[in-house]
Amino acid sequence: MSPRKRILSGIQPSGTIHIGNYFGAVENWVRLMADYDCFFTIVDLHAITVTYDPKLLPQRVWDAALDNMAAGLDPARCTIFIQSHVPEHAELCWLLNCVTPLGELGRMTQFKEKSERERENVTAGLLNYPILQAADILIYKADAVPVGEDQAQHLEFTREVARRFNGRFGDYFPEPATLIGRGARVMGLDGDSKMSKSMDNFIGVTEEPDAIWEKLRPAKTDEARKRRTDPGSPDKCNIFGYHKLVTPEGELREIVAGCTGASIGCIDCKKILHRNLMKVLDPIRERRRDLALHPDRVREALDEGARKARAVARETLDGAKKLMGLL
Ligand code: TRP
Ligand code: SF4
Repeated sequence: MSPRKRILSGIQPSGTIHIGNYFGAVENWVRLMADYDCFFTIVDLHAITVTYDPKLLPQRVWDAALDNMAAGLDPARCTIFIQSHVPEHAELCWLLNCVTPLGELGRMTQFKEKSERERENVTAGLLNYPILQAADILIYKADAVPVGEDQAQHLEFTREVARRFNGRFGDYFPEPATLIGRGARVMGLDGDSKMSKSMDNFIGVTEEPDAIWEKLRPAKTDEARKRRTDPGSPDKCNIFGYHKLVTPEGELREIVAGCTGASIGCIDCKKILHRNLMKVLDPIRERRRDLALHPDRVREALDEGARKARAVARETLDGAKKLMGLL
């Protein structure tokens, strides 16, 4: 028996990942792998709760798997799997459906936002999304869930589901803690909104160095620096925000001095950023290339992940069914 505490997190299958995903979440998960028994699931069953193209979904799931593995979710050190490969999630979701009052679901922030966007296609699946998420977590009796601030409400909801089940059928599910990561909130290249694929303001983790430079070169900096001789304020510069993710302390101080004293230009500053960023991304891109060359290995790793996950999930599910009086 492993004495380590267990965590679980869900990964949206939105294809290749960007540095916002990496510095905001994945990097933190990799750190947690040292101390926790980690489960990561690519949530394809959640992805189908909104309008989507079934022809494109397999590639989205595959790219998410490869990018996350390349970025550090090493199957040798964690259990990584595709949600729909562990059908017990959907089965527990049904059981939890039957202990959840309808009213709360319609009040969830993410549901309200997504149903507004969907309009014509607000499904029962979208409404029940948080119950499936609760099932993802409770089926492993996870001690904690490392997520961003935006998932705090779903986690509170998960704890309520556990309390309600326990109150009715006996103490069974531990209430998982929310581990708000020390992940960064990474802004997009436009400097105005959070980095995201839909805003097309992102730097892909596995993009080629030249392509990344072509995105950095024209990117907005402190507007006060109209000419090379105008001093600037790093705190007003999006590029400096990226520096803080990858540039060592000493060099950061030099940049602050160089920017405020107008002794370095923005292009030089961006070159330093590019160099430091590629130190982090080069090995990821290489691992990604290697994984893509061996799809059979990736498939085996995902199968093995699902097999390990299923063993735990089956046991939890059987216990829950028994408590509920199912023969
Ligand atoms: N709802 C989460 C998101 O939008 C994804 C998710 C699904 C999840 N199941 C989960 C996160 C379980 C943590 C635990 O990002
Ligand atoms: Fe930003 Fe660097 Fe230019 Fe200063 S020198 S404005 S920190 S890019």
